Amino acid sequence: MPLTQSTPQLNKERFVTLYQSKIKREGADDLLRFLLSEQSDFFAAPASTRFHGDYEGGLCEHSLNVYECLCDNMPRLEKRYGFHYEEESLAIAALLHDLCKVNFYKTEMRNVKKNGVWEAVPYYTIEDNLPYGHGEKSVYIISGYMKLTRDEAFAIRYHMGFSESQENIGNVGKALEMFPLAYGLCCADMEASYYMEGVIK
Ligand SMILES: [Fe+2]
Ligand SMILES: [Fe+2]
Repeated sequence: MPLTQSTPQLNKERFVTLYQSKIKREGADDLLRFLLSEQSDFFAAPASTRFHGDYEGGLCEHSLNVYECLCDNMPRLEKRYGFHYEEESLAIAALLHDLCKVNFYKTEMRNVKKNGVWEAVPYYTIEDNLPYGHGEKSVYIISGYMKLTRDEAFAIRYHMGFSESQENIGNVGKALEMFPLAYGLCCADMEASYYMEGVIK
């Protein structure tokens, strides 16, 4: 069942429980402490400005949805091709792939006419104070706290698949071929965005 029916607080609790039970790597506690601190808006941020998860708590919810999809998909890839990843890698890749969106969105107001009356309504816009890219920015942020395996780093770096910026598109196929976790994460990201969170609405 999609997690979109849960509240931000329940999602936050679920994220923290999952994180602490699956991710034991040195530095992981510090990263979680940062995410929970006032320096980070991870648990309040949306997942996008107007596409999937464009509401408070959308980013955390999206990360949990991607985890669910990745855990569903990887056993099939393992059974068919022998690709095996530890549970910790799946949790790191899914739960942390979009850390680039922490402290990335801000709320502004705009006037919208409703029933003939102008009304100020809030909307999300982007204010990137660390313009380091998308997947590469997530890898950069995580690496400040703990070491990623090569597969994890490539998976997070290339989780956008062929939606990658044009100048780097040539590397996407190679990355997906070399690192099955990247393929799995990319599919899980799309599945969560399109089918659980409704990009098209
Ligand atoms: Fe992303
Ligand atoms: Fe994502």
